[in-house]
Amino acid sequence: MAFATRPFVRAASSAAAAAAKKLVVKHVTVIGGGLMGAGIAQVAAASGHTVVLVDQSDEILKKSTKGIEESLKRVTKKKFADKPEAGAEFIEKTLKNITTSTDAVAVVHSTDLVIEAIVENKEVKNELFKRLDKFAPEHTIFASNTSSLQITEMANSTTRQDRFGGLHFFNPVPMMKLVEVIKTPMTSQRTFESLVDFSKAVGKSPVSCKDTPGFIVNRLLIPYLMEAVRLFERG
Ligand code: NAI
Repeated sequence: MAFATRPFVRAASSAAAAAAKKLVVKHVTVIGGGLMGAGIAQVAAASGHTVVLVDQSDEILKKSTKGIEESLKRVTKKKFADKPEAGAEFIEKTLKNITTSTDAVAVVHSTDLVIEAIVENKEVKNELFKRLDKFAPEHTIFASNTSSLQITEMANSTTRQDRFGGLHFFNPVPMMKLVEVIKTPMTSQRTFESLVDFSKAVGKSPVSCKDTPGFIVNRLLIPYLMEAVRLFERG
């Protein structure tokens, strides 16, 4: 460092500052249009993000979109109780932010964040992330909504371990405020903070969590439920 010239030091430190800059997520790809994926797509679109919702067939996606529309109607009934026109405008705007696809590979090329909410099977999830890793841009962050699988293992199926984390939403997504933002030992601070910011942008209250079984909520909930079973068994 003693031999480094001033312009070199300046360039290096501005590169470090740029690298430390958080990613502002604008475009989201949600894979899996079931209970959780549809809810995540809804809250992301309602907060101004453009969303591509991906599932295995057009029939499933039609059902997901219908479900989102119905859910938005319920939300606006309360939120815009005395302004029905503003409510209708909100629904229209939100739905316009959502497009659908059955081909994840074809749509990840321009996304900032991929949120996976498919079937809870580690082989299927790992395979999906491995495939998408080849087609998503360098800057894209990958996140899984898994409840019980290890995020680290999923991250290891890609080459972007530093841009990989967990985003654990709760059901029903439009109502539940909490999101667990899961950090593996490889998740960069920049990725973690970008995921925290995204969670806040969609109106949630994020909590930081390590990649441990059950994360926070289920880790507390399962022993509690087991104790209830034991109490019942003891009469
Ligand atoms: P779901 O069964 O309602 O939806 C899963 C969707 O993924 C289905 O529409 C299915 O067609 C689609 N899918 C499966 N494989 C796919 C693939 N390779 N590519 C594209 N789409 C695919 O499941 P749900 O309940 O929405 O759960 C999704 C994830 O969220 C799971 O990992 C689950 O553990 C997690 N989760 C579930 C919660 C819940 O209360 N249901 C709460 C928090 C997390």
